Amino acid sequence: MTQEYINQNKDRFLKELFELLRIPSVSADMKFKDDVISAANFLKNNLEKIGAESIQIFPTEGHPIVYGEKIISDNLPTILVYGHYDIQPADPYELWDSDPFDPVIKKTQIHPDGAIFARGACDDKGQMFMHLKAFEAMNKTNTLPCNVKFMLEGEEEVGSANLEKFVRNNTSLLKSDVVLVSDTGIINNQTPSICVGLRGLSYVEVEVTGPNRDLHSGLYGGGVANPINVLSSMISSLHDENGKINIPGFYDHVLDVSNEERMEMAKAPFDIEHYKSDLEINAIHGEKSYTTNERTSIRPSLDVNGIWGGYIGEGAKTVLPSKAFAKISMRLVPNQKSEEITKLFQSHFENIAPDAVKVKVTPHHGGEGVVIPTGFPAYIAAKNAMETTFGKVPIPVRSGGSIPIVPMFEEVLGLKTILLGFGLDSDVIHSPNEHFGLFNFYKGIETIPHFYMNYAKLMTK
Ligand code: BES
Ligand code: MN
Ligand code: MN
Repeated sequence: MTQEYINQNKDRFLKELFELLRIPSVSADMKFKDDVISAANFLKNNLEKIGAESIQIFPTEGHPIVYGEKIISDNLPTILVYGHYDIQPADPYELWDSDPFDPVIKKTQIHPDGAIFARGACDDKGQMFMHLKAFEAMNKTNTLPCNVKFMLEGEEEVGSANLEKFVRNNTSLLKSDVVLVSDTGIINNQTPSICVGLRGLSYVEVEVTGPNRDLHSGLYGGGVANPINVLSSMISSLHDENGKINIPGFYDHVLDVSNEERMEMAKAPFDIEHYKSDLEINAIHGEKSYTTNERTSIRPSLDVNGIWGGYIGEGAKTVLPSKAFAKISMRLVPNQKSEEITKLFQSHFENIAPDAVKVKVTPHHGGEGVVIPTGFPAYIAAKNAMETTFGKVPIPVRSGGSIPIVPMFEEVLGLKTILLGFGLDSDVIHSPNEHFGLFNFYKGIETIPHFYMNYAKLMTK
C-alpha cells in the first residue's frame, strides 16, 4: 500500500524537492539569511501537508530549527529523524554546467536513469526530503508503525552549535528510541552499505606575521623572514616521511583497529585504478602501511583547506608580504577529542614558529567522531530494509566525513544513530555540479518505510 502510494506520487515528490532546491539556503553566508528562513518555512508547510503535528519553527541565535512529530501510541517506539536543510555555498559558480539553484535532471554514466543537479540535491535536501515523503506515504495510507519526531536544522554545514544547545535544552521533547539520518552514502547503486563510522573534526585558522608592513622584495628579500615561506615550511613539517602527522601527542588516544576488522573492511569493493583515473592522479598518497580506504576512514588526517597572503592579482608584484594565512582541518578518529587536538595543534604550531615571525592560531568549529555498532535492533532493521529493497545485504562501512551532532545525540540523549544514507561519492557534494540520482532518491523513499516496519516489529513488546 505504501509502495503504491509512492509510485502514484513520484512525480509530485520530485516537483516538491525542486521547489526546496530552488531556495539558496546557504548557512555560511549571511547574504542568504532570508533564504534559509524560506527553506525552514517550506519545510514547516510541507510537514503540515503530510500530516505531522506540533509543528514549530524554533528560532536560534543563528538559523532556525524545524520540528514536527506524529505520536500514535506510547506503546510504540519513537524514531527521531534528523536532517539539514542548509547547504554549502555554490561557489565557484562558473564551474557549474547549470544553475546551482535551478535543478535539472541529466543522465550520467553512473546515473543512467537521471540525476538531479543542484546545490543540496544530495547534501542534504534530497536525502532529508526522502524522509518527509516516506512518512507521507506511510501516514496517508495509515501504515505508520512507529512514532516519529522530525528535527531539521539550518546550521549543519557551519558546525551545528545552536542545535547542540537546542538538544541539551529539549531532552524531553526529543525523547526517542533511535535517531535516523540520511546524510551519508552507499558504495554504489549495486552495492548497498550502511555508514557505521564518522570522523571527528578539528578546524583551525593560522596567521603568520613577519615585518609590520609589506616590503619591497628586492630591497629586503634575503634579509627578512617571509611569512609565506615560513608558513609553507611549518605546514610541510606537519607530516613526516611516513605520512604520519607530526604533532606531539596527536596519536595518543587513537584506537587501533583490529586485524580482523581491517580484513572485514577490505572486503568492500574498491578499485584503485578507477579511483586514480576518476581523480586524474598518477599515484595515491598517504600514511604508510594503510590502504586508501583505511587512510580515509579509520586513520586521522590533516589538510590545508586554503592558503593565502601576498600578491595574487594579475601580473607580478615584487612584494615581501607582512602576513600569511591558512585554514587547516584535521579529521579525527573515535577517542581523539576535538578540543584536545586543537590545543595540541595550537601549542605545537607556536613552538615550531621561528623567532622571526609571530603566529596566531584561531580555532573554528569541531566535533567528535563516532562508531556505530552493528548488532542492535535499529541496525538490524536498517540492514533488513536495505536487503529487501536492494536484494543484497548492505556492507557496514566507516566513512571519512563528519556530522558533529551525531555523537551529541549519544552523549546528551543517550541515543544511537542509524546513518541510512543513499548518496554516492561521485555525487560531488560540496563541489560544483552536485547531484543526486533519481534511483537513489526513490530507493531511499522506498527503503525508509521498511526500516520503520522492521524496527517496530523488533521493538514492540
Ligand atoms: N553530509 C556531510 C558529511 C558526510 C558526507 C559524511 C558523506 C559521510 C559521507 C555533512 O553535511 C558535512 O559536510 N559535514 C562536514 C562537517 C561540518 C562540521 C561542516 C564535513 O564533513 O566536512
Ligand atoms: Mn550533510
Ligand atoms: Mn555537507
